[in-house]
Amino acid sequence: MAFENLLFEVTGKVALITMNRPKALNALNSDLLNDLSKALDELEANDGIKGAIITGAGEKAFVAGADISQMAPYNPEQARGYMLLGQQIFNHIESIEKPIMAAVNGFALGGGNELCMACDFRYASTNARFGQPEVNLGIMPGFGGSQRLPRLVGPGIARELIFSGNTITAEEALRIGLVNKVFAQDKLLEESRKIMDIITSKPASALRYCKASLVRGQDEDIYKAIGLERELVSLCFASEDQKEGMSAFLEKRPAQFKS
Ligand code: CAA
Repeated sequence: MAFENLLFEVTGKVALITMNRPKALNALNSDLLNDLSKALDELEANDGIKGAIITGAGEKAFVAGADISQMAPYNPEQARGYMLLGQQIFNHIESIEKPIMAAVNGFALGGGNELCMACDFRYASTNARFGQPEVNLGIMPGFGGSQRLPRLVGPGIARELIFSGNTITAEEALRIGLVNKVFAQDKLLEESRKIMDIITSKPASALRYCKASLVRGQDEDIYKAIGLERELVSLCFASEDQKEGMSAFLEKRPAQFKS
């Protein structure tokens, strides 16, 4: 598929979605957000694609935030519309029942950090930098950051980052659990593909129910969430993948999953 502001390439079962406005450090203007929305629709609809990696073009930035030149003249009503657009798209990332990871190759600031946090997990390059610098612009996070950051790293660290606007290194992001692994920049995509190739070799129906349970359960009361898990694991037993996976185990042969 061709987009003006992003690249969408499929290799095997994995889509690589590259935010592509490198001159503006891949800042999220409405055009790029709308392209991302269409790319997510394609990812969701295409059964041949089982997972995705989101990254940024160039060596400097993943995404340096929402587009400040676009937002600067906004009144509150226009700001609400723009935040709604970003929030809906980032919520869509969570609701797509396919694993989506972020390969953070540089600055992930403001809306950029919010984008990578909406993904299922994050790998980073050593030069990556993370932060919610909105206070420096006289605003606050608006694409979900004040809600996803505390859920990922805990309320104290999230408050420190959001109140101070400080930027942290990839090593610090690793220490606080914001990213899972850190690699040299020239190895980041290769390592991201390796893990996504493993993940997308698993049966699609099992992956779908795993993500649904993880995403839908995370903000529920734990016993309600465990009930949701029970419903979803029961549905797995209606799938061909369960029949094949368990038969293969008992027959001591590799499973041949169809999905
Ligand atoms: N929006 C629009 N343009 C941006 C941008 C952004 N968020 N970030 C960078 N750019 C543009 C710069 O204006 C510059 O454009 P020109 O060459 O036309 O002047 C170009 O990208 C390169 O940037 P710099 O010259 O600033 O590069 P640098 O290496 O000196 O600094 C940086 C890099 C520290 C990331 C710096 O660009 C920066 O601080 N960017 C803004 C980060 C930020 O505040 N992000 C949060 C935005 S608000 C938000 O995201 C709200 C929300 O929650 C939705």
